Parts: sequence; structure tokens; C-alpha cells
Amino acid sequence: MQHTDDLFNPMHRFVDTACLRAAYLQYEESRNPGAQNFVTLPEGGMELGIVSSEDPRIARAISSLLTRSLEGARCDKGGHLPPEVVTRVQRDIISPEGVSTLWGIAGHRFVLARRHDVHTHEILATILVGRSKDTIFFFTGRYNNLRYSTIAEDVDFDQPDQDNSAHKWFDRFAFPSPERFKPDRFHHIANFVVSPEHRSGGLASLFLRSIVRYYSRDVLDSNGYPIIHSQYLLCGRGLWQIGDPPWLARMKKLGFYRRWGAESFFIEHNWAPLPVVVMQGKQIDNVAYNRMYDMPTCYGIDQIPHASNEHLLERIPEVMRLALDPRAKLQYFQAMFDFMPDVEKGDRHDDME
Ligand SMILES: CC(C)(COP(=O)(O)OP(=O)(O)OC[C@H]1O[C@@H](n2cnc3c(N)ncnc32)[C@H](O)[C@@H]1OP(=O)(O)O)[C@@H](O)C(=O)NCCC(=O)NCCS
Repeated sequence: MQHTDDLFNPMHRFVDTACLRAAYLQYEESRNPGAQNFVTLPEGGMELGIVSSEDPRIARAISSLLTRSLEGARCDKGGHLPPEVVTRVQRDIISPEGVSTLWGIAGHRFVLARRHDVHTHEILATILVGRSKDTIFFFTGRYNNLRYSTIAEDVDFDQPDQDNSAHKWFDRFAFPSPERFKPDRFHHIANFVVSPEHRSGGLASLFLRSIVRYYSRDVLDSNGYPIIHSQYLLCGRGLWQIGDPPWLARMKKLGFYRRWGAESFFIEHNWAPLPVVVMQGKQIDNVAYNRMYDMPTCYGIDQIPHASNEHLLERIPEVMRLALDPRAKLQYFQAMFDFMPDVEKGDRHDDME
């Protein structure tokens, strides 16, 4: 197993062009099987594609990007997460092994890359997009790659926390109900990161725009755009994120909107204390933490939800109550991004995958 320290080396973002090109996947049933299996963007030397993360050099490049980015989320480095949580995620979830085996199997691993020199490309950004619209990449630390359609059967909501059956695992969380946990026909996303060297240059925006333009089946078909690659298409309505509280502001700038009433909270118990969050030398209690991320003010009477039939409006009173409960700490918001924002809801054709 690779030592985590090595992943902090920014040079890992440079990969052999031959290795990158070999990693691009081809979809056997592509509507344009003769086309190249990545997209050359009109923007200066950039390309976009879905890669296999089986090649250890590709997995390492992606893992290194995610590891370096997550470091900035440590609360002792200006972020919002306890350092021990960051270290655990770096070690167990976004390691090269994690990238290739944990969620890699259920998601399309997109990368945005730019030619660096005659032999080398630089990986600029990555995002993981659920292959099936039915996939949920994670559901508490105990479930990965769940199928949403069978969540009620596959998840044991009554499981003990540990050996003591008086304490239940799911008592640690307050979630939307399983029946409405995920919006219909949206692709789950995770690991959305632009290389720290290239932030605020419009790359995230270009990356998302290009995925929509070249990979969303509905966008291609409704605009009569030719399919210029031989990779998979995304056949859902849009992207769906379960995100950490500070991310919402940046995701909104990129065109995402809050799914109202879909927030989840950690619930603290004397048998399940939460790790302490210290920001700028000060310990932050749960209500103060919630307030930092606009809870419950985001549901003030002056606020209006983005048009969508996927909000959980009936849950908002409960979310507002939780935001003021000293035992409850905001865990995640949910956000959505429509591939075709102007299309009437309910006007879309259905399909299974
Ligand atoms: C979020 C992230 C992907 C944005 O990438 P980027 O290439 O810097 O973004 P862009 O330059 O395309 O900026 C798009 C918009 O987002 C805004 N933005 C970017 N980073 C932001 C941040 N940290 N906080 C608030 N807004 C931000 C930009 O100001 C810009 O808004 P504008 O169009 O009004 O000027 C990048 O900062 C990142 O990788 N962050 C760490 C990981 C992360 O937070 N991922 C998101 C959740 S998975």
C-alpha cells in the first residue's frame, strides 16, 4: 500500500500522454463507435474523458489531486473538518486503491487534462459521476454503491451501533426518509476537485459545462448535436450532490441549487460524541456550526426555492428544529444541477439506466 505522504507530491498530476490515452474507456454500444474515445476541447490544448482508474498511475494522479485538495478542509488549516476525519478519508477512501476499487466501479471517472509537453498531460480536474441513476456512492460510513431502488431491503435501519444492541447505528443521524432520499433520475456525483494550482480560473465551470455539452444524452439529442466520442452518455436529468456544508456556496456559483429540506444531521449521544471542531483557535458548538452554514436562516420567509419537483418541503420544519438542537450538527446538504434547466418538469421520457 502506498504511503499517504507521497500523495502530497504535486508532480503526480503529470501523467504520460500514452498512459492517459490508454485509460480512456470505450462504450461498446456507442452511437458513434468509430469516434475517438475522449473529447478534444476547443479551449487551449484541453481534453475531457472518462478514464478507467485501474492503471495505478492514473489512480495515483487522481488520488493525489483529491488528497491534496482535502488537506485544505482540515479545521486546523482553515477548513471545517476535524483533522482525524480528513486523515481517515485520505487513508481509506481516496487512496489510489480507494479510487480504483471503492466507488470507481460504480461511477464514471471524468478527468479534464491539458497537454503539458510532447510526452505529458497534466490532470487539471476530476469528478466521479454515477453510471446508473440508481447509484448512491455512500450512505453513512457503512454502505457504498447502494442501489436506491432497493435501499429499504439492502439497508438494515435497525442495526446495532456496535455490540450494545441498545444503541442503534442510525440513531447517530437524521436523514430524509429512504423513500425520498434521492431525487429521481439524477446522477450522484463525488470527488469534484480542481487542482489547487488552477483554482479560480474558470476550470470547474468549463469542466461541468463540457460534460453537459458532450455527454448528456438529452442535451445532445434535443439540440441535434453530433456525438463526437465513443464513450458512455449520461442519460439522467442532471447531477446530484450530497455535500459538506461549506461547499454549497461554491456549488451554487457553478449552477447547483439546494434541494430544500434534504439536509442530514449528525445526532450526538453520550455514547456517540462527535469529534471536536476548532476553528481559528475556538471550539465551535453544534448550533454555532449550523448557523455558520445558514441554518436555519436559509429557510426564512424571504427565501424562495429553485423550481424543482424534488424538494422535500414537508421536512423543512424538522430541519429547522434540528438546526437549533444542541445535539444536532449539520452533516450534509443536498444540491442538484439540471442538464436542461428550461425543460418542463414531467416532460421528460423515462428509462431505466
Ligand atoms: C470548488 C472547485 C471545484 C471550484 O473550482 P474552480 O476552477 O476554482 O472554480 P471556477 O474558477 O470555475 O469558479 C466558478 C465559480 O465558483 C466560485 N468559487 C470557486 N471556488 C470557490 C470557493 N472556494 N468559495 C466560493 N466560491 C468559489 C468562483 O468565484 C466562480 O464564481 P463566479 O463565476 O461568480 O466568479 C475548487 O475550488 C475545488 O476543487 N475545491 C476543493 C474541493 C471542493 O470543494 N469541491 C466541491 C465539492 S465536491
